[in-house]
Parts: sequence; C-alpha cells; structure tokens
Amino acid sequence: MAILPWSNEYSVHSSEIDDQHRKLFRLVNNLDEAVQRGKGPRVLGPTLDSLVEYAQEHFADEEALLERIHYPALEEHRLEHASFSRQLASLQVRYHTGNASLSTQVLEFLKQWLDNHLLQSDQKYALYIQDTQQSPEQGDEI
Ligand SMILES: [Fe+2]
Ligand SMILES: [Fe+2]
Repeated sequence: MAILPWSNEYSVHSSEIDDQHRKLFRLVNNLDEAVQRGKGPRVLGPTLDSLVEYAQEHFADEEALLERIHYPALEEHRLEHASFSRQLASLQVRYHTGNASLSTQVLEFLKQWLDNHLLQSDQKYALYIQDTQQSPEQGDEI
C-alpha cells in the first residue's frame, strides 16, 4: 500500500493540476518503496532533487492559476509554498553534505505536508473555483 495513495478528495477539478499533484505523490511513494527495500539512502538524493525541481514548477503553475482566477488568499497560499520549498531545500543541503540517513524523516515530512496542504489549502481554492464557477483550465475565458 502506497504511503500517499491518491483519492478523489484531493482533486481540485483541474486535470492539469491533479496530474501535477499525482506526480508529486508518485515521487513520495517511490521514495517510500525504496526505503522499504533498503535503498532509501541511494534514492533519497535524486528524489529530493526531482522534488525541488518539480515542486517549483507545480507551485508556479498553481500560483499562475490562482492569479488568473483572482483568488483572494493567493498571498497566504504563496507563503505556504515558499515555506515548503525552503524546508525541502534545507533537506536537500543536509543530504548533499553527507547526512544521508534522513529517508524516514523526509518521508514523514513530505507525506504530512502534501496531505495537509492539498486537503486544506488547495481544497480552499478548489471550492472558490466552484463557488465562483470559474474554469481552472488554462486558456479559458473567465
Ligand atoms: Fe498549493
Ligand atoms: Fe498544489
């Protein structure tokens, strides 16, 4: 069983953003599998690198969407993304400076943060989209 299984309650009703969230989940689940197979230390570095890169891409896309729909809590949302990015970057530095035994801590942090952020903060804008009947898909007229 995956540590962070996808379910519909995470959906923000945008196929583009849902796909990006699924990809973040996949990175976490792959790391978990590697840890279970005793390969955590080796997989942790590349996973952290991918997560840093991919989270940045995802946050930029999501914030662009929130700007497009004039989401009122955008600044607050941005701060949450920035805080995650900072924590991830510091884990990455710790890993690359030789502290390779962080796999389980990293997994716990990733699982907690993603689960919480998607169910709380991302769901808030999903509701806003529904309430204001806007289309989350890029290129659509609002
Ligand atoms: Fe978000
Ligand atoms: Fe998100």
